[in-house]
Amino acid sequence: MASKTSRDVLSRGLGVLRQAIREQPRIFSVAVVGSVLFGGMIIVSARVVGTVIGEVALPAISRGEVGAGTLALAAAALFGISVLRVAGIFGRRLGAGYMQYRLQASYRRRVTRRYLELPLSWHHRNSTGTLLSNANSDVEAAWYPIAPLPFAVGTLVMLVGAIVSLFATDWALALVGLAVFPALFALNVVYSRRMAPRQARAQRLRAEVSGIAHESFDGALVVKTMGREAQETARFAGRAGELRDSLIAVGRLRGVFDPLLETLPSLGTLAVLVVGAFRLRQGAISVTELVSVAFLFTVLAFPVRAIGWVLAELPRSVAGWDRVRRVLDATGEMPYGQRVLDQDGAGAATLTFRDVHFSYPPAEAHQTGAQVLGEVGFTVPAGRTVALVGPTGAGKSTIASLAVRLVDPDSGAVTLDGVDVRELTAASLAGTVALVAQVPFVFDDTVRANIALDRPGIDDEAVWAALRLAEADGFVAALPDGLDTMVGERGTSLSGGQRQRLTLARALAGRPRLLVLDDATSAVDPRVEAAILAGLRSSAAEPGVPVASILVVAYRRATIALADEVIYVEQGRVLARGTHSELLATVPGYVDLVTAYEQAEVERAQESAYGDEVAPLPSGLEIEVDR
Ligand SMILES: Nc1ncnc2c1ncn2[C@@H]1O[C@H](COP(=O)(O)OP(=O)(O)OP(=O)(O)O)[C@@H](O)[C@H]1O
Ligand SMILES: [Mg+2]
Repeated sequence: MASKTSRDVLSRGLGVLRQAIREQPRIFSVAVVGSVLFGGMIIVSARVVGTVIGEVALPAISRGEVGAGTLALAAAALFGISVLRVAGIFGRRLGAGYMQYRLQASYRRRVTRRYLELPLSWHHRNSTGTLLSNANSDVEAAWYPIAPLPFAVGTLVMLVGAIVSLFATDWALALVGLAVFPALFALNVVYSRRMAPRQARAQRLRAEVSGIAHESFDGALVVKTMGREAQETARFAGRAGELRDSLIAVGRLRGVFDPLLETLPSLGTLAVLVVGAFRLRQGAISVTELVSVAFLFTVLAFPVRAIGWVLAELPRSVAGWDRVRRVLDATGEMPYGQRVLDQDGAGAATLTFRDVHFSYPPAEAHQTGAQVLGEVGFTVPAGRTVALVGPTGAGKSTIASLAVRLVDPDSGAVTLDGVDVRELTAASLAGTVALVAQVPFVFDDTVRANIALDRPGIDDEAVWAALRLAEADGFVAALPDGLDTMVGERGTSLSGGQRQRLTLARALAGRPRLLVLDDATSAVDPRVEAAILAGLRSSAAEPGVPVASILVVAYRRATIALADEVIYVEQGRVLARGTHSELLATVPGYVDLVTAYEQAEVERAQESAYGDEVAPLPSGLEIEVDR
């Protein structure tokens, strides 16, 4: 089993190398030419050194005089060979470096682009740590063998040249070469096979360790407030320990094989001297030839290691490549269509859900996903505000995701102005709808960059207009550098409510024709929330600010009351629809929910009225202090 997989690793590793050569054929050729030049010069230098010693140095010593002309010629020959060798090294190194780093950069780009194409369901199944290591250490690992590859290819050519040169010299010495070179090669193969499972395990553990580290840093707040530092450290230490052990296992194998690989060529030199001395006495070879061959074995040892480097990196490369391919070959991306909706000046869009069914993909392949939405149908008419109300887990965020096509329905359809959202181009969809998610995300950048997101046509004026609509202009103006203020990673330097209003302004700056607010103002105090919504509704009156239809997931009575229609969902079904007062009169569940929420709001308001003595508010319920 183990040997079968290792053979598999060898052939698949060679496949990865072929792929690399196919992608960078020219640079690879440059590097191989450099390497072959280097290898050729090694063989030539062995001949020249033999000749210089056998025909210049020895006669000179025995005669006790040195011909100046001969010496100069010998020196010039050795110098010329060195120059060519250096040129070969230069070409090889440069080419190999270019090739390796180009491939890395290109695959990093491909992997990250793929991340953005893959649906949310795929992201839910893959941890951030895994994604980071796929784009980083896995891509690197996949292309590690590229660095020594041209060297190894040049060495193979050189070995063939060396055998030919040996046979031209003496068959007995050639037999020594025929015994040593294949043995070296075989030893390298055995080495890489032994290494395969160890490297694969180390690569997997690397990803796991970075995953755990990422999670604990990301959740630093929870870890600290819950006093979980010790446990988190232990969890990390456990996995880091496994990684250490697996790397030590790799090192131990290296410790056994490296000396063997180092010794074999020296044994070869020894064998050459023994056999050579014998052949010299027989008169079959000259001193020149013996010195040449012995020198050849000495200088060969190093380049032959290049083959070992490639083979030793192959298992890791295959492990990394498999993990990269898993991303590149992942399916489930949502292809965009060709249709484009009118945008600027087209007014608000009409959103329709027609008999939508939806289930999240199961966590495990053999399970079936539970249905989250069934027979959901409703319309948000152009320019109207519709509130989505329902208990926790009812499916409100799922409906919001479907409305902006983060996910597609299993059956039924979501349409914008009568066009199925699946038929729209990515640009048209992004220009028409905007979602402000339940959990606000802020980039580690300036306020301006967070709102404009490099979208064309969003100048400072547009940014301020959006900030005004989101009731965020006040606090942004008060920031030390205004729009140029850096907001810190994930907006950590902002309050929860400020963050929400920043993400709202981001959505508004794109002048969407449909705005989907998923509980997007929960951390804003009720008066401000009502002001924001009222501002969005009446913005038709303001010149330059487009009208948008609004689908808003809401809890507060004041917010809901602003809606033209309320849709009440429970367990993934639309149970009732109508105005707020109609639902209050007819739907008991609705009354309970709205009243319960109002009760909680009142209690919270009372608590904060008591001032500093009360316990801190639960996270996510920060009270605004800047207004
Ligand atoms: N990524 C997911 N994978 C699997 N199930 C999910 C996923 N997201 C949500 N669900 C499930 O779908 C159902 C609806 O979730 P949804 O987030 O739409 O509820 P919600 O109405 O927005 O709740 P809340 O008011 O708490 O935000 C829940 O039962 C939830 O467990
Ligand atoms: Mg939700």
